[in-house]
Amino acid sequence: MRKKVILAGGSGFLGKELAIFLKKKGYQVVILTRNKPTISEDITYVQWDGAHLDQWADELEGSYAVVNFTGKSVNCIYTKANREEIISSRIDSVKVLQDAIRHCQNPPQAFVQAGSLAIFGDTRKKCTEDSPYGTGFSVHVCKLWEEEFFRESFSKTRQVLLRIGFALGKNGGALEPLLKLVKYNLGGTVGSGTQYISWLHIDDLNNMFLQAIENNKYNGIYNATGPSPVTNKEFMSTLRKVMGKSWTPPAPTPFVWLGAYVMMKTEPSLALTGRNCIPKRLQEHGFTFTYTHLETALKDLIL
Ligand SMILES: NC(=O)c1ccc[n+]([C@@H]2O[C@H](COP(=O)([O-])OP(=O)(O)OC[C@H]3O[C@@H](n4cnc5c(N)ncnc54)[C@H](OP(=O)(O)O)[C@@H]3O)[C@@H](O)[C@H]2O)c1
Repeated sequence: MRKKVILAGGSGFLGKELAIFLKKKGYQVVILTRNKPTISEDITYVQWDGAHLDQWADELEGSYAVVNFTGKSVNCIYTKANREEIISSRIDSVKVLQDAIRHCQNPPQAFVQAGSLAIFGDTRKKCTEDSPYGTGFSVHVCKLWEEEFFRESFSKTRQVLLRIGFALGKNGGALEPLLKLVKYNLGGTVGSGTQYISWLHIDDLNNMFLQAIENNKYNGIYNATGPSPVTNKEFMSTLRKVMGKSWTPPAPTPFVWLGAYVMMKTEPSLALTGRNCIPKRLQEHGFTFTYTHLETALKDLIL
């Protein structure tokens, strides 16, 4: 019988990629979604509301692992309502999954949580797992998220939180809007260009999730990012090179503010801030990266 992995909020960018990856590895995949239940391409979609215990919780009984991707996208304008939903969707889903695990006779042996490197705020300093937290709304969200995830511990369920960096994939995620900007010759350096992008290829991220699910050595918090972060200036210049575009004028900070709010309907800080993070604990575990060079990673995804 195939081992079952449950992906809560797994209908989004990262969850869908992991679902396909796990299926290829021989796992049975169940996605918890607020949409109607269905079965598609050998993936079972089970309905939940991300906040209350209900029949969906039966899926966890005897399962191998549960991975939580749930959360309102941070790619929006931070109105009061959006801020509240960004927080509540993350905290409520962690709490209710903990409840579901507690109610299991045979609980999953691993509970893996998708977190974020945004906990370090906006910094040019190298950040390992032990570095100080930053300040601001995104940091506040990450702190609440991590506190909630580790509030409860389980005797039979290992807990791993991956602080995910700028995940580069083919079908969506943060790369998609940048591809559009470069395509329309708007892909210049953003703001000062000195803000860091801690990037990683989706294949490496999927392997990190697999390790977190299968490998008993994995426990606690990890910086889930590649070993070679770059500045925004270097990132945009490499992206233009891979897409065959020549030099493009930089987008000064006021222009980015206006463009983000008016055209992209999102928070300018997402593009104007960044962090320089190192996957220290993954490296200590001997994790092997397939993509350590940005140009190679982008060529694989774009060409
Ligand atoms: N993508 C990245 O590069 C990246 C980097 C760092 C951290 N992360 C974190 O990793 C997680 C997954 O990222 P992603 O890119 O896959 O996100 P995503 O595409 O936005 O998917 C998140 C899923 O959460 C569910 N959801 C959204 N709002 C919800 C709400 N109010 N209540 C309950 N469920 C809700 C949705 O599932 P249904 O509509 O099917 O219910 C959605 O498919 C997120 O928490 C994100 O912050 C992502």
